[in-house]
Amino acid sequence: MNAVPETRRADGDRPGKPAGDHVLIADNLARHYDVKRGMFGHGTVKALNGVSFHLERGKTLAVVGESGCGKSTLARQLTMIEAPSAGRLLIDGEDVAGASHEKIAQLRRRVQMVFQNPFASLNPRKTVEQTLGEPLAINTQLSASERSERIAHMMRTVGLRPEHAKRYPHMFSGGQRQRVAIARAMILDPQIVVADEPVSALDVSIQAQILNLFMDLQDQFKTSYVFISHNLSVVEHIADDVMVMYFGGVAELGEKKRIFSKPRHPYTRALMSATPSIFEADRRIQIKLQGEMPSPLNPPSGCTFHQRCPYAIERCRKEEPKLREVDGRQVSCHRAEEVGDDTNA
Ligand SMILES: Nc1ncnc2c1ncn2[C@@H]1O[C@H](COP(=O)(O)OP(=O)(O)O)[C@@H](O)[C@H]1O
Ligand SMILES: [Mg+2]
Repeated sequence: MNAVPETRRADGDRPGKPAGDHVLIADNLARHYDVKRGMFGHGTVKALNGVSFHLERGKTLAVVGESGCGKSTLARQLTMIEAPSAGRLLIDGEDVAGASHEKIAQLRRRVQMVFQNPFASLNPRKTVEQTLGEPLAINTQLSASERSERIAHMMRTVGLRPEHAKRYPHMFSGGQRQRVAIARAMILDPQIVVADEPVSALDVSIQAQILNLFMDLQDQFKTSYVFISHNLSVVEHIADDVMVMYFGGVAELGEKKRIFSKPRHPYTRALMSATPSIFEADRRIQIKLQGEMPSPLNPPSGCTFHQRCPYAIERCRKEEPKLREVDGRQVSCHRAEEVGDDTNA
């Protein structure tokens, strides 16, 4: 699962967009963790195992996959919270690995994060005004009154009332709290926001509002998003491109419309089967996910999905499928051509 999707934009599918305007490039990013393994020493968890993609400026890449597939680990590499074990990360053309401390600090300001749970990510002892004001005080030359103005404006922009600036996180509803977290991420006008399951902890009725907010902000500020969710239906509207992850690697990566209209990886197909109402076109073929993801300490041979895959053949048990281009997207499956065209799995 190690290919760089160089050819992804070669077909020029998006008219009017200059090819190659990539605000972030992940090239074979890996993150391995050493863990204690019982009494017998150590094992290695390959939480992220060679992931490559390009994020287009002003666009949204949705990252989707079951719990444990490596999404949050990827988020920590992209936001420079952790350094990858291998691979390269380029932010606006700058190689993070070679950058000085000052440069890294600068890059970190340009890549902000929104977490799943705003209760955990916001400081309970800080008012909204303090939460939003601190990054401005540290990183800008604005005067106190200019900062207050900027804070009020940002609060309005995310759908909060500026007169609530003196409130603490617990005084808001879950949705409002996530708006505060989003305002904090946006206050320095970052180039990239990495949002890790930002609506998963919210009531379903609130989720759409927050998704709409993300989309409005992107229209307004041209921010690029990496939007992470375990739920394909959540990303259906917000995504331009979709990357389906499985077991630390890329199962399928490409334009949303291609992937949603004809998934070529059995795992993508299975994720879609789990949310049938939205994917009418795909209802003919239902793949039920069998079993669970294998233990990361004991990875399977061949294709990491083969034990759960209704398409698996002998080859899948032996040979790891490389990410390759099939039907205008990247897919790591030996049988991708058949998967897309098959009508009964
Ligand atoms: N700090 C860590 N030490 C050891 N294992 C980890 C660590 N962080 C994540 N993992 C493991 O890496 C895998 C991917 O985790 P994670 O990135 O949190 O997945 P996701 O966000 O998709 O649920 C899991 O098997 C998890 O247990
Ligand atoms: Mg996670």
